[in-house]
Amino acid sequence: MARWRVMLVGCGYIAPFHLAAWRGLNNVEVIAVCDLDEKKARERADTFGVERVLTDYETAIRELEPDVVDVATPPATHPEIIEAAAAGGAHVLCQKPFAESLREADRMITTCARAGVRLMVNENLRWSRVYRELRALLDQGTLGEPYYLQIIRDRLFLGKPLFPDQPFIRDMPRAMLYEVGIHFVDCVRFLLGEIESVHCRMRRINPQMRGEDVIVLSLNLVGGQVGIVKADWCSRQRNDAIAESIRLSGTEGTVVVSDDGRMSLLLNDGRTIEQGTFDETYLEGQAFPRAHAHFIRGLETGEPFETDGRDNRRTLAAVLAGYESAERQAVVRPDGGES
Ligand SMILES: NC(=O)c1ccc[n+]([C@@H]2O[C@H](COP(=O)([O-])OP(=O)(O)OC[C@H]3O[C@@H](n4cnc5c(N)ncnc54)[C@H](O)[C@@H]3O)[C@@H](O)[C@H]2O)c1
Repeated sequence: MARWRVMLVGCGYIAPFHLAAWRGLNNVEVIAVCDLDEKKARERADTFGVERVLTDYETAIRELEPDVVDVATPPATHPEIIEAAAAGGAHVLCQKPFAESLREADRMITTCARAGVRLMVNENLRWSRVYRELRALLDQGTLGEPYYLQIIRDRLFLGKPLFPDQPFIRDMPRAMLYEVGIHFVDCVRFLLGEIESVHCRMRRINPQMRGEDVIVLSLNLVGGQVGIVKADWCSRQRNDAIAESIRLSGTEGTVVVSDDGRMSLLLNDGRTIEQGTFDETYLEGQAFPRAHAHFIRGLETGEPFETDGRDNRRTLAAVLAGYESAERQAVVRPDGGES
């Protein structure tokens, strides 16, 4: 029998990426999938060879006593599911956005700590090859002291069918920053450190959207660095694909990742070093498998998770500060009061 018996709750769009990641780990068995929609759960179970299909996570956790509950449902459902997992003694891997509010985030962190179970938020983008490579360049000191990171991520939905795979995004009152921009805020923290204050402008260009579809965030870091995140669902890109480009500057040089994934290291001494192409997407590439492997390694070794509840609360706080900033057109400090 595998060492870690996992139950997946939520069998929607993102579930296959979780199930594929678990399948790649030989000490893990997914013992059950659970969704309010039995048909969806059955489909996932059939595709991935999972034995049990359930619709009520509370009963399922009580009866099956999984070691891990993998939460892939919308944020509003996280507190109740995590409470049930903790009561059943199961460790938790929870999809982003972790919570709808910092109060809920605190509640879930406390619940897991009291129950003695580990909690990690699944922030997969930071596990993609490109961000790992940027982290390695910083750790090696290749760029000197970093002072600037810019992430631009664009895709065209204006005048097109909106989010065929995730139709709920169209009705989200908080859309681009909460659903997608949150990954980039996490990556800014991953590469540059903690966020001291946030300024954000957002727009809703597409009349079919309820929430914002363009965001420009300026993140001021505790160490004096600046992170700029611009994400947009209204502008056309080459190849009509999602385009993500990155610039990371330090006192010794700049890394440029162009929107086809080509990474160039432009050193201030005049050398230009081509680093190769980093075009795996954070969904289809190795980001999910790496995040899931990190979770299991943490359980086995006791090592801290990069994105445990407390860590991810800081990403969430910066995102919520972004909304407040956009509303008040002010520079907002993320809530510093941590549980
Ligand atoms: N990390 C990433 O790259 C990434 C990408 C896409 C989505 N997500 C996140 O994953 C989460 C789910 O997104 P999705 O696109 O799969 O949504 P989805 O709507 O396609 O799937 C969610 C599923 O959860 C089920 N569900 C809701 N409440 C439930 C409950 N109480 N018990 C059991 N099942 C319940 C729904 O029936 C649905 O099938 C969101 O938080 C989203 O932000 C993350």
